[in-house]
Amino acid sequence: MATTIAVLGATGRTGGETVRHLRASGVPVRALTRQPDGDAGRSLTELGAEVVEADMDQVASLRGALEGITRLFSVQPAFDGRGRYHQDVEAAQGAAVASAAADVGVEHIVQLSAGRGEPSGLPHFDAKLTIREGFEQAGMIVTALHPGPFMELMVDPAFVPALGVWGVEPRIVGWNRPLPWVALADIGARAADALTAPVPSASTAIELIGDSRSLRGCSSLLTEATGRRPRRLPVPTWVFKTMVGDEFIDMWRWITEQEGFPVTAGLMDVPSWMARRFPR
Ligand SMILES: NC(=O)c1ccc[n+]([C@@H]2O[C@H](COP(=O)([O-])OP(=O)(O)OC[C@H]3O[C@@H](n4cnc5c(N)ncnc54)[C@H](OP(=O)(O)O)[C@@H]3O)[C@@H](O)[C@H]2O)c1
Repeated sequence: MATTIAVLGATGRTGGETVRHLRASGVPVRALTRQPDGDAGRSLTELGAEVVEADMDQVASLRGALEGITRLFSVQPAFDGRGRYHQDVEAAQGAAVASAAADVGVEHIVQLSAGRGEPSGLPHFDAKLTIREGFEQAGMIVTALHPGPFMELMVDPAFVPALGVWGVEPRIVGWNRPLPWVALADIGARAADALTAPVPSASTAIELIGDSRSLRGCSSLLTEATGRRPRRLPVPTWVFKTMVGDEFIDMWRWITEQEGFPVTAGLMDVPSWMARRFPR
């Protein structure tokens, strides 16, 4: 019988895409959520996943939910509903996953990371490197996925900080600097591939970037695809900072310090993603 793969954050963006790709190939999935009976949990059941309650804030709950699992997709969402980052929460959740996964005998973790796999000084990037180290020290092989910003950021009003991409980000990075982007569907597909391949002999880090394109370029494509210009809220940078803290602004500054982002072969570029998102 095929190995069951457990997916943390299964009701969320990256975990959700991972579940969809695994289920589309008929792979047995244990989808982990704090609310199995919620709407999102029920949708996962309809996809054929076994939906199980798990809370990363409680190691005992994780241990129970991961019983019998050898391969795991791990994501710590890190930002609260208002867009504020909590490094202590992310670190504690990562440590809880390491402990529970090692206890039940997980061999391979596909970790949704961020940044480029090297220390950056940015708390939410560096926390993920520490979490990866914890997984490795606990004896597990890690495939760390390092995606660029999700293309969905451009259009999803539920994304905090939705008002940032077209309102505040251009003031930090400028309209013309090429930025890295990746489609969620590609993250899910690459995660599913890694989780269903034989367990690698060593840990690896993989950058996932489908396109390198400026905000001006993305804005014109979006205007063309939707027939209207992206909604821009004129929020002053200091107000944005007061609302969500420093993390996003520091991340956008970090992007401006990078010398380009190599595009990963085989991933969607922004025009391909828009054609799928806004079919004519
Ligand atoms: N946005 C970007 O462009 C970008 C780019 C690169 C990397 N990242 C990284 O991506 C991550 C966010 O991933 P995402 O967008 O897939 O997350 P998400 O959609 O915000 O949320 C993922 C899921 O995590 C679950 N969750 C939250 N707290 C939990 C807990 N205590 N125990 C168990 N489950 C919990 C929630 O499910 P339930 O409520 O059902 O439990 C939620 O649906 C962050 O770490 C970020 O740094 C983001």
